[in-house]
Amino acid sequence: MSEPKSTTRVIGIASGKGGVGKTTVAVNLALALSAKGLRVGLLDADLGLANSQILLGVNAPTNVSHVFDGEKTVTDVAVETPQGLLLIPGASGNQALANITAVQATSLIDQVLQSYPDLDVLLIDSAAGLSSANMSFLDACHLRLLVMQDEPASIADAYGLIKLESRKDRLKDLYLVPNRVASLQAGKSLFDKMNVVCMKFLEEPVNYLSCILQDELLARVTRKRETLIKHHPASAAAQNFNQLADQLTNQIASKAADRTLEQA
Ligand SMILES: Nc1ncnc2c1ncn2[C@@H]1O[C@H](COP(=O)(O)OP(=O)(O)OP(=O)(O)O)[C@@H](O)[C@H]1O
Ligand SMILES: [Mg+2]
Repeated sequence: MSEPKSTTRVIGIASGKGGVGKTTVAVNLALALSAKGLRVGLLDADLGLANSQILLGVNAPTNVSHVFDGEKTVTDVAVETPQGLLLIPGASGNQALANITAVQATSLIDQVLQSYPDLDVLLIDSAAGLSSANMSFLDACHLRLLVMQDEPASIADAYGLIKLESRKDRLKDLYLVPNRVASLQAGKSLFDKMNVVCMKFLEEPVNYLSCILQDELLARVTRKRETLIKHHPASAAAQNFNQLADQLTNQIASKAADRTLEQA
């Protein structure tokens, strides 16, 4: 499957194991990129248990399930959130959607890109696991962030996804995001540990941008209908998300410069 052709950078947020912080990273990274002045879309592609809405305090009447049914278009279901993001809400509790095909996933992303050509970035929050629907969404991204935690199941499942990405020759576009770490050093060490394994068994490195500290405020802000980036910008995790946003935009700019040089 080929990458999308619009100028919007499409970034997938993945994990092997569930519950490691994909939605948290997707929502807070989206808010941090938006605060830097980028026009940001967030596609909730978790078609089983869509949670992005909850973190953004949105209660959307329709979602991607209605687009797949053919009842609605992407512009019908998309919502401008109070924080200035374009949210394409995911579906909750619709098991049929877990089996969508690669063609349907690509077509959904194409519809978003065509309907909103002003987007600088489209983040895709995916479901846990390596289902073919999930992999189809990740296939359609320019780059992927792999969220993981320092615990055996998360490490093993993250490595499973890294192996799949390696077979697709895409490790250069894969960035590990250690989450809920005790210190910045612990986050970098977890990345280093994974990178050593990748170098040894896959003979290729993975990439690092930033890690996210364990921060109890994350659970509290949702209950208070706040966001970390806006209401607690000095908190540890808000600073991590801002750093992740900075590193990511630098990376995107340097890849764009490489492409321009290649085309010259
Ligand atoms: N850095 C962090 N510090 C503290 N709590 C966190 C952090 N990251 C995530 N959490 C908490 O972990 C829980 C799971 O996070 P989240 O829903 O983002 O995971 P997920 O990978 O999207 O899960 P799923 O696989 O079910 O989609 C949430 O309660 C969230 O608040
Ligand atoms: Mg999630």
